[in-house]
Formats: sequence, C-alpha cells, structure tokens
Amino acid sequence: MDLTETQPAVGSSAGDELLKLSGISKSFPGVRALNNVHLEVRRGEVHALLGENGAGKSTLMKILSGAYSKDTGEIYWEGRLIDIHTPKDSQDFGIGIIYQEFNLVPQLSIAENVWLRREPFRNQALHLIDWTEMRRRTKELLDELHLDLDPKRPVDGLGVAHQQMVEIAKALSLNAKLLIMDEPTSALTDTEIEQLYDVIRKLKARGVSVVFISHHLDEVFAICDRGTILRDGEYIATVDLKDTSEDQLINFMVGRSLDQQYPKVGAKRGAEALRVEGLNRAGVLEDISFSAYTGEILGIAGLVGAGRTELMRAVFGADPIESGKVYVFGNEVKLDSPRAAIQAGMGLLPEDRKYQGLVLILSVLQNVSMASLDRLKKHGLLQLGDEKKRTNEFVTKLRIATPHIQQQVQFLSGGNQQKVVLATWLASQSKVLIFDEPTRGIDVGAKVEVYNLMNTLVESGVAVIMVSSEMPELLGMSDRILVMHEGRLAAEFDRAEATQEKVLAAAMGVN
Ligand SMILES: Nc1ncnc2c1ncn2[C@@H]1O[C@H](COP(=O)(O)OP(=O)(O)OP(=O)(O)O)[C@@H](O)[C@H]1O
Ligand SMILES: [Mg+2]
Repeated sequence: MDLTETQPAVGSSAGDELLKLSGISKSFPGVRALNNVHLEVRRGEVHALLGENGAGKSTLMKILSGAYSKDTGEIYWEGRLIDIHTPKDSQDFGIGIIYQEFNLVPQLSIAENVWLRREPFRNQALHLIDWTEMRRRTKELLDELHLDLDPKRPVDGLGVAHQQMVEIAKALSLNAKLLIMDEPTSALTDTEIEQLYDVIRKLKARGVSVVFISHHLDEVFAICDRGTILRDGEYIATVDLKDTSEDQLINFMVGRSLDQQYPKVGAKRGAEALRVEGLNRAGVLEDISFSAYTGEILGIAGLVGAGRTELMRAVFGADPIESGKVYVFGNEVKLDSPRAAIQAGMGLLPEDRKYQGLVLILSVLQNVSMASLDRLKKHGLLQLGDEKKRTNEFVTKLRIATPHIQQQVQFLSGGNQQKVVLATWLASQSKVLIFDEPTRGIDVGAKVEVYNLMNTLVESGVAVIMVSSEMPELLGMSDRILVMHEGRLAAEFDRAEATQEKVLAAAMGVN
C-alpha cells in the first residue's frame, strides 16, 4: 500500500512510520469504547496518548498488545497490514507493553523474570538452563539502562520503580521496537520519574518508539514529541507538542477550556473538628500533634516516604500506634479500628484505591452507597430511590464514564474507578474527610470538579484534609499546609505565606 496517499498527521513524512492504526472501533456491552480511531507512531519518537478518563486510551493499547481484539479497523506495522490476535503475536512483531499492574513473578529473580519461558539452554534436549549466560545477558540489559542491580536478586524486594525497569529490560530483551507505557509515572517519586525519562531518551536513541500515557501534562511536554488526543472514544487530533500550548491540549481533551484549574473559595473557619495529640509509632511517626477545623482544607505536604499516608492511616485507626490520642469534636476516638473512626464521623479516601477502596465486582451504585448506608436507612428501611438519585448526581458531577449505575466497577477505566471511590466518601456525610492523593489518575477536567466538590464540603462545615504530592494542587486549594519530614511535622504555612520553595525546603528537611 502507498503510505503517502493516506491522510498524513502533522508534518509527517511517511517513511519513518512504524505503526499506523486506522479506523479502529471497539465496543463492550453498552459501551462504545473506540469509534473509528487513528494513530500513527514514528520510529524513535515518544508519542503521547491523551484524553479524559474513559476516553479509550488503555483499550486502544490493549488491542495492540493482543489483550483485546478490535471490532473493525486496520493495523499497519512497518508499512504492512498485520493482525494481532494474541499477546504472543504482539510480542513477535516487537511490541512491548508495561501495564500499571506489573506482570512479574515476585518469587523469581530479575534474570528469571526477564527470560521467563525463553531461557537460554546449555543443553536443549536435557532442558538444562544456561544460568551464566542468562545472568550475563540480563546484566548487559541492566547496564544499558544504567541500573546497578544484581540479576540474581528476587523481584519482590524491589521498589515499584525498579520493577518497572525490569519490565523495560524484559521488553528490550524481546527486541521491542515499540514500548507502550500506560500511566508509568503514577507510583514514582520525582527522582524516579527523571530516571524513567533518561531511560526513555536512551530507548529513543536506539530507535525504539514509545507510546506514553499520562494525565500529567508537564510530563507530556517534558518527554513526548507528538501526541494524539482521544475524546469519548473518538479521534480528535494529532499534534506536534512543541507547537502546542497546555490550553490547546486541554481544549482538545475536554472539548472546552478550563477557566480555572484551582477554583479556591474561602469558607469560614469554624470549630476544631479533629485534634491529634502526640502520635507516636517507632521509626514511622514521631510526636505528631495538629488540629483541623471545619470550613478549611488542610493540606499535608512531604516527600514520598515522609510518613503522610502512615499518619493518616494511624489517625483513622487503620494502623497501630504506640501512643497518642485523636479527638473528633472533642470526643476521644478509640484507635483500634477504622470502625470507631467512621462512627465518630471520619472518612479516609486511601491512596491505593484499587485494593483498599473498591469492591470491583459490585456496581457503581453499591460502591457509592457503601459508606453512607447508615444514613440511608430510615426506620430500618433502605431508601433505594435516594441512593440512586445521589449516585446519579455524582456520576454527572464527576463525569464518571459508565453506561449506567448498575455497571460493575471492574469494567470502568482506571480513572473512573478512582472517581467512584471519591464519590463514596463525598456521599458519606463524614465531618472530617481525609483524602490521600485525591486526584491521582484523574483527568484535568474532572480534577476541577473534585476541587469544586471539596469547596462544597468545606462550605457545608466539613473539615477536609488533603495529602498530595502535587505542589500546585496543595498551594492552589489548601487554607493551611502542614509539611512532614521523616515522620515528623517540619513546618506549617498559612495559605498566604506558602510558596513552592518554602514547602519543598521544609519537606527536604532544610530550615
Ligand atoms: N472489559 C470492559 N468491559 C466493559 N467496558 C469496558 C471494558 N474495558 C473498558 N471499558 C470501557 O471502555 C471505555 C474506555 O476505557 P479505557 O480504559 O480505555 O479508558 P482510558 O482512556 O484508559 O481511561 P483512564 O484515563 O481512566 O485510564 C470506558 O468507558 C470503560 O468503562
Ligand atoms: Mg487507562
């Protein structure tokens, strides 16, 4: 086929094209996930795949990886029309995918994971694995990625970033020409993200192409060359990122521009809703005391590992402590289980939603009403009508992409699952709400809606505590910011005095 005849993406010269998807459609029961979608990826480019939660990004990539089959459309690989039916097909063509949930076997070593089911043999007939050769080749791959890791090390002791690198090494060992990364940075620290960028630049230099999915536009501008935007399963545009502004991207993604990314309203600070006194847990939390008030958003800053999540879990009674007290509106809360905290009027949106916050086989409706069941039971009867109405309101407000509220949560896209957990707690009528990384994985448009809902909460007299690693969000939405450093409270700033520099310095332990 003559590639020059097909509609070219911006400034494309068809010769360096590695992959071209044309007219791809895919439906699930009740959901049209992709409708006539196009994508072109050139050799050695980093191509961003952009769009709101539920736009169809992961679905399109799963078609490429052989996890899903397309309904219609064509896939061209190095100019040839191909078909991908299984993950093996995809691998054989040279496509590697790194999912957010890794596919490593924790008990096996790095080398064994990289060469799993493709082990080099010393004697093929006798099935004798050539361990020396396997480790040598693994070491080569790790060196190439500038990773100082022992190939013999078991994978389960590695942090997320290193596990991700093992996945990348595995893809390289398969001679992948295209590497798909679906939200690779969501569990990484800033330093690890920089390391990932380095690896991506090295892959580029080798002529490997990367498809990069992220809701962080700063990352997209930092590492990607071009980007393709999807909206509601439709192809919107392909752009050269160096000629595109953040506003333009948001416009393409959301279909409108956002007048304000951080719509802060000042509510009136009221009573002390939460008081934490002298919380201690050896090696994790050291003598922590603070208060949160109704009508305020209290931001909690700190580097990854500073103990922010641990502090919130301890306050909520989810983790054991050695000493300390927690009061909600002056009443002491027993800290032996979250049950007491919930009864006292507290709610915690956990950082790790998939495992802590959702029942995947239950419906959107059942999940949203979970935290508020007591409230809905009037005279011992469940008011099903109210429950449905509230859930539908949240679905509209947070733009949760689901065919109906009876849909099982496991069939929602990653970001939409997170919105359901958010809705669960927003619906709970808690008086003290703790949000741990509330907007992680949520698209730019929906973030603003989450902030608007937080505003509504504080205006109605709720105390909101927001743990966040995103500095603009903390500075943009908090009335006060507490900064943690190595298990201690290192500083406190009022909204007016807080700056990125001051907060960062305190988080790093600089006075
Ligand atoms: N196995 C499935 N069964 C039913 N519906 C599905 C399935 N997989 C995806 N969908 C639906 O297809 C649509 C696109 O989902 P997809 O996961 O591709 O979105 P996404 O762009 O990756 O979003 P996010 O940014 O939230 O990860 C969503 O409406 C989702 O609910
Ligand atoms: Mg996705």
